[in-house]
Amino acid sequence: MPFLSDALDRVQPSATIAVTNKARELKAEGRDVIGLGAGEPDFDTPQNVKDAAIAAIEEGKTKYTAVDGIPELKQAIAAKFKRENGLTYAPSQITVGTGGKQVLYNALMATLNEGDEVIIPAPYWVSYPDMVLLAGGTPITVTAGIDTGFKMTAEQLEAAITDKTKWLIFNSPSNPSGAAYSADELKALTEVLKRHPHVWIMSDDMYEHLTYGNFVFATPAQVEPELYDRTLTVNGVSKAYAMTGWRIGYAGGPEALIKAMAKLQSQSTSNPSSISQWAAVEALTGDQGFIAENNRAFQRRRDLVCEMLNAATGITCPVPEGAFYVYPDISGCIGKTSAAGTAITDDEAFATALLEEEGVAVVFGAAFGVSPNFRVSYATSDEALREACSRIQRFCAALR
Ligand SMILES: Cc1ncc(COP(=O)(O)O)c(C=O)c1O
Repeated sequence: MPFLSDALDRVQPSATIAVTNKARELKAEGRDVIGLGAGEPDFDTPQNVKDAAIAAIEEGKTKYTAVDGIPELKQAIAAKFKRENGLTYAPSQITVGTGGKQVLYNALMATLNEGDEVIIPAPYWVSYPDMVLLAGGTPITVTAGIDTGFKMTAEQLEAAITDKTKWLIFNSPSNPSGAAYSADELKALTEVLKRHPHVWIMSDDMYEHLTYGNFVFATPAQVEPELYDRTLTVNGVSKAYAMTGWRIGYAGGPEALIKAMAKLQSQSTSNPSSISQWAAVEALTGDQGFIAENNRAFQRRRDLVCEMLNAATGITCPVPEGAFYVYPDISGCIGKTSAAGTAITDDEAFATALLEEEGVAVVFGAAFGVSPNFRVSYATSDEALREACSRIQRFCAALR
């Protein structure tokens, strides 16, 4: 009898975490490595949020809480959904988990049975297909390539829906492409979904606040109120408030689903950290100036990276609307050989050679389901980005 569960055979370790670890290893050996793999802001958590956490500790708010969130945080989340998204969720329709990741996982575990299909537009966040597989479902990927700005079309969605479709996982702005759907683009998809009442929508709005220029964020239940009863709107404080380590994510949705998710959480992790929950109350209700200030830095970095990558031989880098990632296409580099003699057969070979020869860590596109590409996280200093992009330019110029 095997000791390990068969479920483990269905999933892969996270490629993004693998790249970060490899870069860390090389750094520990004394190599000069610039990491563009991390999926987190380089800014510190705002002081008012830290102060709220310290106060929570000093006031003894350090015990178990209600499984899926303290009432104060649920109130703050309900107010956020109303204020920013025009969505009305009662506290009983809100759940809080240990990061957006747990909330997404709970929703899939609470709903999927064998044979259920989940539509995932690619490029996708690495965890979606594996979470679906762990929950016993079948991921159905729909490739949204560079020609459509990494956005799925209404025709593609229509063609992917079957009688077995349970969820569409929708992520805008996207990790890894940064692409974000305008309200009109989203409306084209919600029109399709209106025709298929058995399909639920899991909207991962984690990067909502990270959009640039005149782009206006939109979420499915807001764009099409008819879908409200079958939409789970997922969000969190990790990215917008530079709180990745605090582990607070949340969602609003139909009460029966929210209850099922809480039941699951009650038998796994119970409540997310009480201290982090109080910090999240402050993040959502306190001064929001932090976001605009950081976005100015992110927009400047996005523009810098896109300009420098587009100047590299063999690379095409679309300028995305949001998140802190770009997802350049490297078709022009495939089939060549690097300065050190490595055959660039695919994007994984490209990323490995780039790390070994130039000390720049990026995540190869195959991990996100669309190739040949790589993902750059520009959540690092302008100086590091400029140096990393010059090294990428040099690496590409040397390809033969
Ligand atoms: C698209 C997307 N959704 C969800 C998450 C999970 O966020 P959290 O850190 O809150 O678990 C991430 C984190 O990388 C993400 O990129």
